Amino acid sequence: MEANFMYCTFKGRKSVCPILLSKEQALEGIRRLARQIAADYARAAIHLVIALKGAKTTAGYLAKELDELGMTFQVDGVRVKSYAGTESTGKLNWLQELAEPDLAGKHVLVVEDIIDSGYTLSELLKVLKFRYGKPASIRTVALLDKPSRRRPELKGFKADYTGFEIQDVFVVGFGLDWDEEGRELPNIVYINPEDFINPSTN
Ligand code: IMP
Ligand code: MG
Repeated sequence: MEANFMYCTFKGRKSVCPILLSKEQALEGIRRLARQIAADYARAAIHLVIALKGAKTTAGYLAKELDELGMTFQVDGVRVKSYAGTESTGKLNWLQELAEPDLAGKHVLVVEDIIDSGYTLSELLKVLKFRYGKPASIRTVALLDKPSRRRPELKGFKADYTGFEIQDVFVVGFGLDWDEEGRELPNIVYINPEDFINPSTN
């Protein structure tokens, strides 16, 4: 298969980044997820909880697709952070609570950009199950998943709906960032942080 590349700049340095998924491929994945979700929920109203900021792009396109499929939904978000640089810190920081903190009786669908160790989403789920009232149901959707990176105690943990399983690479673009950089890249590219921190001088 032919690899495609695009220029990207991080930490003030420009490099060539291989494209893992083009924007069109990501959107096709989201359309597929929306069709599965619409079929499973039948006509029930959904309460989307976006894991900000990374999942904002995915959630925006997912909402558009769900709308076109005639689904009814509300949108809210929480902002949690477990990553520093390209590594998980193993701690979940709550930076922003739900704007409308009442999930009692609602069909909650948590939208995440990517699952890596599994820590963020599994911890988020634990909290969402009780902090804002008891939801009628709670499910998860993740655009990307790196199953090989799962913590041992979370082996087998998966989102209910997964867009793409990917290798153990660090990806940016389509909302995903590296220390707040790269979210605006249209395609999902993978990067080797060393290329930007210790670029070769030749
Ligand atoms: P986990 O807690 O290790 O599963 O990591 C999940 C969170 O870390 C995601 O919500 C992302 O914010 C971030 N993350 C994990 N892998 C990547 C990546 O490859 N690129 C950008 N962010 C990532
Ligand atoms: Mg995230």
